[in-house]
Amino acid sequence: MSISRRAYLSVAALAASSVAIAKTSGAAGVGRMASGLGLTESDLKSMAVLASDLEVVTVTDTSVAFTWATYAPGVQTAYGFAKPTIPASEEVRLALADGASLKTVHEGFSESGYHHVVIGGLEPDRTYRFECWSEGVKALPSLGVTMNKQAPEARGEFTTLPALEGHHLATFALTNDTHIGKPNHDGIRIGNFGLSAEPGDQPFSSMQLEGLLKTVATDEIGTIVVNGDCTDSNRPEEYDEFLRVMNGFGELGKQWFVTRGNHDNHPPGLPNINGRRGRGIRRGKTEIPDYFSKRLIPTQQHWTTQVGDVRLIGLDTAEFGYAGGRINERQMRAVRAELAADPERPTIMFAHHPFTRDAVRSHIGGPAFMMDWEQSLALQRVAAATPGVKGVFAGHTHRSRRGIADVGSTDFCERGSSLGYPGGYTRVRVHTDGYQVTFHRTRTPESLAWSTKTRWSMFGLEPELMLGKISDRNYVQHFRIPVAL
Ligand SMILES: [Fe+2]
Ligand SMILES: [Fe+2]
Repeated sequence: MSISRRAYLSVAALAASSVAIAKTSGAAGVGRMASGLGLTESDLKSMAVLASDLEVVTVTDTSVAFTWATYAPGVQTAYGFAKPTIPASEEVRLALADGASLKTVHEGFSESGYHHVVIGGLEPDRTYRFECWSEGVKALPSLGVTMNKQAPEARGEFTTLPALEGHHLATFALTNDTHIGKPNHDGIRIGNFGLSAEPGDQPFSSMQLEGLLKTVATDEIGTIVVNGDCTDSNRPEEYDEFLRVMNGFGELGKQWFVTRGNHDNHPPGLPNINGRRGRGIRRGKTEIPDYFSKRLIPTQQHWTTQVGDVRLIGLDTAEFGYAGGRINERQMRAVRAELAADPERPTIMFAHHPFTRDAVRSHIGGPAFMMDWEQSLALQRVAAATPGVKGVFAGHTHRSRRGIADVGSTDFCERGSSLGYPGGYTRVRVHTDGYQVTFHRTRTPESLAWSTKTRWSMFGLEPELMLGKISDRNYVQHFRIPVAL
C-alpha cells in the first residue's frame, strides 16, 4: 500500500473541511455520505441495480452532459474502495422547469455500467428539470458537492448558460497536468487494484491525453493550450512521449501551446519534490536538467500568440526544484512591455500556478504550493490595469475552481486535469460580450472507463476535491470588447 503526498494532503484537506460539507449537504449531511446514499438495506436489495454517482458535469448554452454509474444491487457508494460497475440500460427524461411533464429524450444501454449522455438542442438561459434512470431505478448523487441542496444533481434542475450575442472572436481548448510518464494515479494503492492501468494497457497518462485530443478534434476545435505539468518527472523519454502524442494533434506554436509546470522541473525520476523553498534541491544538491527548454519553451520566457481575434499569453511560473511558482524579473518586464504595447487587445493568460489568495486559502498545500505572493500581486495589478486582459487560467491543483481576484475584476480560474477523474478538457469560447468556459469529459471509451476507476482515488474522496461546483466548471464571464479590433 502506498499513499502519495497529494493524496495525503487531499485526505487531510477533506477531513479539515468536513464541517463545511456537513453544513452544505443539508440535513442528511455526513451521515448520509457515511452510509452511501442513505437508503435502507431492504431498499438496496429490492433494486435491480444501484444507479449512483449522478453528475451534471457540463452545461453550455445549448447542451448538458450527465454521468452516472450502475452497481450491483446492495452496493453502497460514496467513499471507500473501488466497486465494479455493471451493464445497465440508460434513460434521460427532461422538460423545461416551467413547462410540461418530463419526456424521455435519450434511451440506450451501457455495457461498461458507466453512463455518459450528452443532450443538445436546448434553449439558452432556461431552467430544465431532469431525471436519469437505469433499469427502472432513478440515479442519485453520492457526494457532498452533488448532494448540496443548491447542486443541480440534488435539485433535479439545471440552468443553461446565457448565450453570448456579440461577435465571435475565438474558440480554443485548454487542459493541464497531463503528467506523461506517471506510473500510478494519485491515491492509495493496494497492489494493482483500483488505480493503476491493467497490465498490457497503454500507460494511462498517454491514453488520457490521446483521448482528450481526439475529443477536442471531434468537437472541431483546432487549438489547445496545455497549462503545465506536461511530464510527470522531467525525464527525456517523457518528453518524447508527450511530443509524440501532441504532434498527432498538430504543431507546437501553431495548433498547440504549452506552459511549464513544477513537474517539468523535477529531478528526473523523482515522483515528488519538496514544496518549500530553501531546502536541499535549492542548495544545488540535486542537478535538474532543463529538457523543457530544449524541447518546448526556453526557461522563464513567456510566449504570445493570436488565436482568432484573441491574444493568448503563456507564462513560465515554474522554478527548478520547487512545487511553488515564480516569475523572474526579466520575464515580468517582458510581459509588462508586451501588454503595454497593445493594452486593449483581448487577451487571455495562462500560468501553471494559481495566483489568488482564494487559491492559497482553499488548498492545503498553502502558500509554498502556489505563486510567490509578491509576484502574484504584481501580476494581478498588471492584469487589472490592462483593459484587454480578461482572464488568467491555472492548473496545478487538478481541480475546477473559480478564483476571486485580489486586485481588480480579472477572471482567475483553476481547471481540472487531463489525468484522472473527472478527466476532460475546457472549452473557451470568446465573444465581444464575454467568454463561455465549459468542461467536457474525454469521451473515448477507455477514458470514460478510467474516469470510473479513478472516481475511487483517495478512498473515493477525490471527486469531492477535484470536481468543483457546476459554476466552477461551466460559466460565462461578461465583459465588453470594442468591435473594431
Ligand atoms: Fe500536476
Ligand atoms: Fe503542478
